Amino acid sequence: MNRREFIKGGAVFSAAGALGSLKTEAAAERAPLKVCVFSDLHYTPGVYTNDTPEFLEKILARAESERCDMVIHLGDMVQNVSEKSVRELVERYNSFKIPTYHVIGNHEQDGTTHEETLQALGLKRGYYSMDCGGFRFVILDPNYFCNEPGKYIHHSKGNYFHRSIISTINWIPPEQLEWLRATLEGSPNPCVVLSHQSFERGPAGAMVRNAEAVRNLFNEMNAKTPGKVRLVANGHLHVDHLRILDNIAYWDVNSANMYYWGPRQNAYPREYLARHAGAPYTLGSCEDTLGWKEPLSAILTLYPNGRIKIEGSRSDWLFGITPKDAGFSEYDKSDRLISPVIKSADFTLNFA
Ligand SMILES: [Fe+2]
Repeated sequence: MNRREFIKGGAVFSAAGALGSLKTEAAAERAPLKVCVFSDLHYTPGVYTNDTPEFLEKILARAESERCDMVIHLGDMVQNVSEKSVRELVERYNSFKIPTYHVIGNHEQDGTTHEETLQALGLKRGYYSMDCGGFRFVILDPNYFCNEPGKYIHHSKGNYFHRSIISTINWIPPEQLEWLRATLEGSPNPCVVLSHQSFERGPAGAMVRNAEAVRNLFNEMNAKTPGKVRLVANGHLHVDHLRILDNIAYWDVNSANMYYWGPRQNAYPREYLARHAGAPYTLGSCEDTLGWKEPLSAILTLYPNGRIKIEGSRSDWLFGITPKDAGFSEYDKSDRLISPVIKSADFTLNFA
């Protein structure tokens, strides 16, 4: 089911598989599924680095030349879909010749309401699932804050920026957690879980607050049906990292575009900074970031037997200006290297 069929039909998954078993008949013969994955494009003209449609076009061209079956963006593609050029970029992505999918990021609703954002992205809901090529893709939406016990409010028009709220963001609400359980339990296929925020690590505020409950659920599913949850991928952190935890691959997909620092740098040419001075609905401007010269993306190949192949990409720092040049650390708050790279990997999870 592609995203457009998902919108039309509304149904999120097909016939449930038997608990404790995966569809293995003929699985070994099935062709692997090839997916172009990228994240955090942050297309915001006049604000961040690389603010032309060129980065998206280069990634889509890669997906086409690699003959990918689908393309997935892991959130923060844009920050204000009410702007014409931004909407055009989203429409270009939505109508690409290969089926394309969105994961909603925290910034996607900075300039518009949640409902307006969903409509522009072509989604009925921030969390959904689809079965493609023998795998179930489960897309989660942790963009809720909870500043009153039991009350979960979705990001909408930058409502989470207030100091008293920003410390309460990133929850998978109970209703979505129940939906996740039913979606994983009912899957006849091995599952890939996608979310903008990480379930594996991150400084406070960057990781999903109830990540442990979600990881416990993955482990419970795998204890019942080995190999049910195989890969959990996220964006948001703008670094490249891969970790096998409890026999599940947790993958931080680096930003296609840049690293966001917060503190301002004056390392870029003055004219360039002046052309990217920021806008009121964003957290900052180009001065808060260091960008890549070329866009980063990955070609992910999923095999029925548990093999996972990642073909990454490598760029250079925009203007050749490194974190050291700008007076920043080379490592993020979790001591992971910040660099314009998505590393390649090829491994097989063993379910025996
Ligand atoms: Fe981001």
